[in-house]
Amino acid sequence: MATWLEDQWKSGDPIIDAEHQKLHQMIRSMAAVVRNDPGLGLAIEAVDVLAERMRIHFRMEETLASRAHSDAVATLKQDHQRLLRLLAPVRDALQGGDQDGAKTLMEDFHAQLDQHDREVDIPLFRR
Ligand SMILES: [Fe+2]
Ligand SMILES: [Fe+2]
Repeated sequence: MATWLEDQWKSGDPIIDAEHQKLHQMIRSMAAVVRNDPGLGLAIEAVDVLAERMRIHFRMEETLASRAHSDAVATLKQDHQRLLRLLAPVRDALQGGDQDGAKTLMEDFHAQLDQHDREVDIPLFRR
């Protein structure tokens, strides 16, 4: 998850790198809410907020990519949609009271996002 803090993994584009650092900070605090929700429904709200934040992030990347890398936009969008779909089962698990399942699914979302960062975002936006 520390991808965007390591020099070797920075894209070199200051806007992209700063946005990802902010995004990952937010993901870390939302994951903590999911882990520690005492059953007040906070975790479900956190997943919803996170999904909205991810949509904004993805839209920003897709707009930037459509200017400079229009050939890569379709693939980028497809992978963003796939990542967003991973959050629905987290929400379902929480709603069903399966805290452990939600935790595992959230960790899987993290791992998949990390892979996306390394394999899609960074090569695409690297300067
Ligand atoms: Fe990204
Ligand atoms: Fe991306």
